[in-house]
Amino acid sequence: MTRLEVEGVSIHFGGVRALQNVSLSVNEAEVLALIGPNGAGKTTLFNIISGVYQATSGRIKLDGQDITGLQPFELAHRGLTRTFQNLQIFFRMTALENVMVGRRIRERGSLVGHLLGLPSVRRQNAESRDRAMELLKFVGLESCADRQAGELSYGILKRLEIARALALEPNILLLDEPVAGCNATETAEIDAVIRNVVAKGVSVVLVEHDIHLVMNLADKVHVLDRGATLATGAPQDVRSDPAVISAYLGDPESEEEMIDAEN
Ligand SMILES: Nc1ncnc2c1ncn2[C@@H]1O[C@H](COP(=O)(O)OP(=O)(O)O)[C@@H](O)[C@H]1O
Ligand SMILES: [Mg+2]
Repeated sequence: MTRLEVEGVSIHFGGVRALQNVSLSVNEAEVLALIGPNGAGKTTLFNIISGVYQATSGRIKLDGQDITGLQPFELAHRGLTRTFQNLQIFFRMTALENVMVGRRIRERGSLVGHLLGLPSVRRQNAESRDRAMELLKFVGLESCADRQAGELSYGILKRLEIARALALEPNILLLDEPVAGCNATETAEIDAVIRNVVAKGVSVVLVEHDIHLVMNLADKVHVLDRGATLATGAPQDVRSDPAVISAYLGDPESEEEMIDAEN
């Protein structure tokens, strides 16, 4: 089943055409990787899909329903959530509290109920704590539950951020550079977490520069270059596409990464 459809999306910022007529689709429990050089429009497309920006033209559909123009919280209620390129963690809260904050949006019960400490609200808090603990276990961080986030390493925080996004019980998760700045061990841990997320039936859209991770994890790869689609298809097809190779040839480091990924 098609979960997400992006149909002919364009956006202009003044004179800058950040995206031009981009279309893609993601099925249930599928991983789509969005790659391309810096400034290609990857984060902008995430911002449009997740309701942060409004497209100048084009439509977005989620599970067959038009979601163009909906706000991020409305999309979260419909099962679409994201992480950001830069960490969005509350450093003075514990790991567990960070995940519980993620869950807030799903909880019923009014603010007044919380202030009065109503039994229903207390029960909800206990449930929320249990669920947050389950999510920490799911990403392998149960031992960090009561540690202050500010004391945790960067790689652990990247996993914590995924746990917090999962607290919204998404059926599609957008991850913006989930392993940026991570070492090989941390990258392998995050790779495993993403696989476990997909095994639960969640679709994942991934922006990532780590070509090795992309080639191993993605079912489909979509390449953007200067706001336009350069190539799209299975990882092995995209990897051997001459247009993609020449776009990456401008950057010797990326070329090496492409070659590494083939081995
Ligand atoms: N809010 C904005 N205002 C003006 N220009 C923007 C804005 N957001 C993105 N852009 C421009 O859109 C283009 C794509 O940026 P971005 O989506 O961040 O690229 P990527 O994530 O692929 O590196 C860049 O030229 C960037 O300067
Ligand atoms: Mg970006």
